[in-house]
Amino acid sequence: MKDDIQKVDSLEKLQELYTATFGKNGTMTAKLKTMATLSNEERAVLNNENTELRQLFKQKQTELENAALNAKLATEAVDVTLDVEPENKGTLHPLTWALKEIAAILESFGYTLWTGPEVEDDWHNFTALNTPEYHPARDMQDSFFFENGNVMRTQTSSIQIRAMEKLGAPIKMFGIGSTYRKEMDATHSPMFHQIEGLYVDKNVTMSDLIGTLRALLSKFFEKEIEIRIRPSYFPFTEPSVEFDMKWEGGKWLEMGGAGMVHPNVLRNCKIDPEKYQGFAFGFGWDRLAMLKYGLTDLRPFYDGDVRWLKNNGF
Ligand code: PHE
Repeated sequence: MKDDIQKVDSLEKLQELYTATFGKNGTMTAKLKTMATLSNEERAVLNNENTELRQLFKQKQTELENAALNAKLATEAVDVTLDVEPENKGTLHPLTWALKEIAAILESFGYTLWTGPEVEDDWHNFTALNTPEYHPARDMQDSFFFENGNVMRTQTSSIQIRAMEKLGAPIKMFGIGSTYRKEMDATHSPMFHQIEGLYVDKNVTMSDLIGTLRALLSKFFEKEIEIRIRPSYFPFTEPSVEFDMKWEGGKWLEMGGAGMVHPNVLRNCKIDPEKYQGFAFGFGWDRLAMLKYGLTDLRPFYDGDVRWLKNNGF
């Protein structure tokens, strides 16, 4: 019996043998049932045998379990000296980073985020923005037109019209999105992105506009930014300005356009210009991202080349 236990080489066989010995119809079970008929000496012998066998089974079981575990460890061991599989972690695109930051700043100023369609109708992209059919300003932006008169949005200004039509005044919103013009070089792409802010209320002034621009850019670049405005022209603002910011080496960089919302634009959105005034500003958010992250070419933003992103720390 003891030899039988010693010879067992698997846990299953051990279990079988155990059942054959101690199970309901096991050999030892049968013997133990005769206990009452035995003499004291015989009982002692049987008890010893019982204890010994149980210990042997237990030992054998531990032995077999250890062997199984060691075999498993040997085959499944992790070789920590091997090279790891390269892991491609996703990151946010620099344009997305820049947008998230600007949006957080504008929201902290009380502006609400809006979007609008990229294929716009004539009304929202031009006419409501005080740019009627005959207006030469339609040529300022080389536009992609559809045969039905719709246009690939040339500016996010169309979003402010949609917002004012829907909410009226007072209103404090910003629109973001892709815009499209026929132009292409290192700093221009036929598709780029704009951010546009609009604030209409009683007593909104030009100095509110300048203060807002200065605060927005200073927060975004995390340092005091000096702003300069120059007279300009947009059909939908009066007066209109372009604004520059002072950059490294005292250089003035052109950032975007702005101005006081033209009374015609307010009227087009059923807002009474005698009661309300407002300012609007717009700029390219691609340019902001380029400056913030020290990039010199706009085009790789749209190439989707992961190597370029990684090389630039994204
Ligand atoms: N929409 C103008 C542009 O694309 C920028 C602008 C926005 C100017 C708002 C004035 C007010 O050039």
